[in-house]
Amino acid sequence: MVNKIRKAVFPAAGLGTRFLPATKASPKEMLALVDKPLIQYVVEESVASGIESILIITGRDKSAIENHFDISFEMEQMLIERGKTEMFEQIRAISDIARISYTRQKQALGLGHAIYQAKDFVGSEPFAALLADDIVDSEKPALQQMVEVYEKYNAPVIATMQVAGEDISRFGVIDADEVEPNVFKIKDMVEKPAYAEAPSDLAIIGRYIFTPDIFEAIEQTKPGSGGEIQITDAMRILLKKRPFYAVKLEGTRHDAGDKLGFLIATVELALKRADLGKEFREYLKGLNLR
Ligand code: UTP
Repeated sequence: MVNKIRKAVFPAAGLGTRFLPATKASPKEMLALVDKPLIQYVVEESVASGIESILIITGRDKSAIENHFDISFEMEQMLIERGKTEMFEQIRAISDIARISYTRQKQALGLGHAIYQAKDFVGSEPFAALLADDIVDSEKPALQQMVEVYEKYNAPVIATMQVAGEDISRFGVIDADEVEPNVFKIKDMVEKPAYAEAPSDLAIIGRYIFTPDIFEAIEQTKPGSGGEIQITDAMRILLKKRPFYAVKLEGTRHDAGDKLGFLIATVELALKRADLGKEFREYLKGLNLR
């Protein structure tokens, strides 16, 4: 029987060194694209994909994330007093979005180690893990696209996207057979291969559906590059024991954990906004670019 995916884990305990100094005292996941923090985009995506219960893995500076999803009493009072009802409703909706709990990864020992902190929360259910760095702008929520593949094959699913040229070396890359359009059965995966050695142009991006046996695999995973417990290494252990699938997502993926990717995402999302898009487009058209 296929269990419904009800729970999601959001690792948010990384150091965010690519975004210093912005991330010196506040979490990368609270950086805002236009006016919404990255973590809110992915939490909303998960809720739109059927997730009911959320665990955010935090590290230092946990309070900004917690406060964001909590009721902001003084702010709400002030908005009501000033008659800003619509704004009040928007702010209140953030705290009503889902059941969210928090746990702490005491040291940033890698993504695999961060996900391991969710063991008790997950129990014996399949679950999703989402990285706020990867913002996917798509018709159907990215996680929903993956849930459909999970339900069909009853096996773990990772998200993948095609990456052209040498940029592939910045990602985990899969070696896989396409079993139906945009769905792949994975044979192997490698972390950040040299361009010439990449087994395909299919990069792993920050969305995963795991079964609880991933925790046993993480326990067996030795620290890899940078002394970190890599989730790709844990997935390779599990791959020897069970089928693993990948879905090529429909939509545009933005690497919002990187300065250039963040700027691109900001421009693209701002252009799509009903309240800003028109004026912003006019401004961009007026830039004297060559
Ligand atoms: P990244 O590889 O982007 O690492 O992590 P990072 O430390 O956040 O950022 P850079 O590379 O130093 O700029 C991918 C995701 O995994 C989480 C991060 O918070 C991010 O969402 N993560 C990573 C953890 O929660 N714990 C870790 O030990 C490592």
